[in-house]
Amino acid sequence: MSFFKKVTSLFGSASESSESKEAPAPAGHKVSSVGSAGTAPKSGEKIEPKGGGIEQVRHIVAVGSGKGGVGKSTITLNLALALAQQGLKVGVLDADIYGPSQQHLTRAPKPEMSGEDRLNPSEYEGVKIISVAMFTGVNQAQVLRGPMATQLLRQFLTQVNWGELDYLLIDLPPGTGDIQLSLAQMAPLSGAVLVTTPQEMSIIDVRKAVSMFKTLNIPMLGVIENMSYFICDSCEKKHYIFKKGGGSRLAAELGLPLLAEIPLDPRVVETSDEGKAVMVQMPSSDAAKAFVNSARIISEGLALQQKSGGDGGLGYFLLEWK
Ligand SMILES: Nc1ncnc2c1ncn2[C@@H]1O[C@H](COP(=O)(O)OP(=O)(O)OP(=O)(O)O)[C@@H](O)[C@H]1O
Ligand SMILES: [Mg+2]
Ligand SMILES: [Zn+2]
Repeated sequence: MSFFKKVTSLFGSASESSESKEAPAPAGHKVSSVGSAGTAPKSGEKIEPKGGGIEQVRHIVAVGSGKGGVGKSTITLNLALALAQQGLKVGVLDADIYGPSQQHLTRAPKPEMSGEDRLNPSEYEGVKIISVAMFTGVNQAQVLRGPMATQLLRQFLTQVNWGELDYLLIDLPPGTGDIQLSLAQMAPLSGAVLVTTPQEMSIIDVRKAVSMFKTLNIPMLGVIENMSYFICDSCEKKHYIFKKGGGSRLAAELGLPLLAEIPLDPRVVETSDEGKAVMVQMPSSDAAKAFVNSARIISEGLALQQKSGGDGGLGYFLLEWK
């Protein structure tokens, strides 16, 4: 039985006994063969792409924040749609194994198997998407041990037929844990986008993510401030509910571009809960415009970086965008 089928059946009866049966061997031991690439590498080992997976992906960009609930998933999806609007080929990998959102945000159908050990990604508005919730449904708790979650992430990177992509955006879980570390070890990331809300409470947590990305040598591409202000119906003024300027101060402190200040807009929640994206439903909203602008800065910045030979990425990026 292929790994994905095993995983699906595992979620079907997420009992302790079946979980431990499927748990991979401890690091240092060979785990059973997963896929055409042959024997699976050890957990955390760098993936050497062989015919598929992320082999033809030009840029892998993680969307992260130390903080939960600041809008990472919403931003990942809308940013992906904005990049796709530029005519780029884009995918979204939901790396939030324990709290996946991309299925709820898109209602994308369950991916089709391709042969014994491959999966064709699902799709929303031309963006290829994979999320563990596509196998389990959004309401089922992901009862998994850490190594199993890492293994799933690995399969999403190696056994999904991503094909040729300009961008694979990774929707990271909150915090600075195992998944982030494993991802950085396994996949060659072009960079990370930091998401914060304006208030200091959020920025404190984002600084933890900054320190993690620095430790992992992942260039940071810029800061997106979400829920920056609210425009009310009665006076049409901007109300700065979570204080003003936190994102721009953080960006300045880090020497990074502020990619966007996205308004707090109830329509973002409404469209999200309907499984549609604001980028698609309300392309002329300020939120959508902010995504378009961020996508342009990111793609232009990374194109410049690539032109330069991609040596040490960040320095060049900063030089261009400061
Ligand atoms: N600009 C916005 N305006 C209004 N609501 C927003 C905005 N951005 C995100 N939201 C809402 O905030 C909630 C949290 O967003 P989201 O799930 O994207 O955050 P997250 O950082 O991915 O959370 P988690 O850490 O749990 O993964 C959702 O209900 C979403 O619709
Ligand atoms: Mg999320
Ligand atoms: Zn008002």
